[in-house]
Amino acid sequence: MNKKIALIRGDGIGPEIVEQAVRVLDRVAAKYGHSFSYSEVDMGGAAIDKWGDPLPEDMLRLCLESDSVLLGAVGGEKWNQLPGDKRPEKGLLRLRAGMGVYSNNRPARIWPQLADASPLRREIVMQGIDFIIVRELIGGIYFGEHRTTEENGSTVSEDVMRYSEEEIERIGRIGFETAMKRRRKLCSVEKSNVLDTSRLWKKVMHRLAQEYPEVELSDMLVDNCAMQIVKNPAQFDVIVTENMFGDILSDEASMITGSIGMIPSSSLGAGSLGLYEPIHGSAPDIAGQDKANPIGTILSAAMLLRYSFGLDKEADAVEAAVGRVLDEGYRTLDILPKGEGAEGCTLVGCKRMGELIANRL
Ligand code: IPM
Ligand code: MG
Repeated sequence: MNKKIALIRGDGIGPEIVEQAVRVLDRVAAKYGHSFSYSEVDMGGAAIDKWGDPLPEDMLRLCLESDSVLLGAVGGEKWNQLPGDKRPEKGLLRLRAGMGVYSNNRPARIWPQLADASPLRREIVMQGIDFIIVRELIGGIYFGEHRTTEENGSTVSEDVMRYSEEEIERIGRIGFETAMKRRRKLCSVEKSNVLDTSRLWKKVMHRLAQEYPEVELSDMLVDNCAMQIVKNPAQFDVIVTENMFGDILSDEASMITGSIGMIPSSSLGAGSLGLYEPIHGSAPDIAGQDKANPIGTILSAAMLLRYSFGLDKEADAVEAAVGRVLDEGYRTLDILPKGEGAEGCTLVGCKRMGELIANRL
């Protein structure tokens, strides 16, 4: 199989982690007889420095002309003073919207090797953590009008949250379809006791439920969900929610699995072109020090193989290689147990972790 992958190395630890994911992809290509070619795309802070724009048009075009896109992370202190529409994050939002990837899939599952890294009590972890957050990615408050004005000598800001039935329905379908492939439990998360968008959300989910009689649909208010994720995470199979709620809940969900550094994500729209990125940020404090955990990005590359290229066997192999390296006790700093638990573990840097995973393929 010949495929073109756009690489967005990005800012902070982005370049180091993407390098390791490419190492793994190259090993997959060599082993299974594929050929992957890469195009380099500037986005975020790197693009601001080079082009004065977080996502120049021709960079977006490079992504649209590729078979899929792999992204490290964007953003950093250096660009924080820029106005909202010039910030690195705006590049990411424009990329998501430009690619039309409305469905963001963020798995929260505990690797048994890392059970001790979870901040939750052991008896809660032992009940199992294995759920997916399906997050609407190109609508809601992220994409409504943002405005700051002066009124009677005071500064006033507003951000508009807007959803149409169609937008809710298409992500709702992904939620139901995802649940059908799993344990058939879907939890729709909203704030329908306060927000109109949430009341519409709930109505559309229940209408859709009639098409999926095998799926058990439940409703949960987002504040309660934040609590339930730490109290009883085993209850969840698939969570479907709007953009900002999904952003917040997915950070929480990642933490209970041990480290945000382990969690990949896929974002898809109507076709097979997808955007794959770890859910963590650019971690400028450890950038360039070979301390970052590349596993979230490597697992994102595995999702890319699976969902954009249909290469299930290859994706399974990458995930198994990660498991093997963890079995052997190799840990980056973020997943290294403290104290006694560290016995039998070996601390490795970003590069070595990537090398080990590629070698176990
Ligand atoms: C994420 C990130 C982004 C988001 C930021 C960087 C714009 O937090 O992917 O979760 O809020 O979507
Ligand atoms: Mg986030």
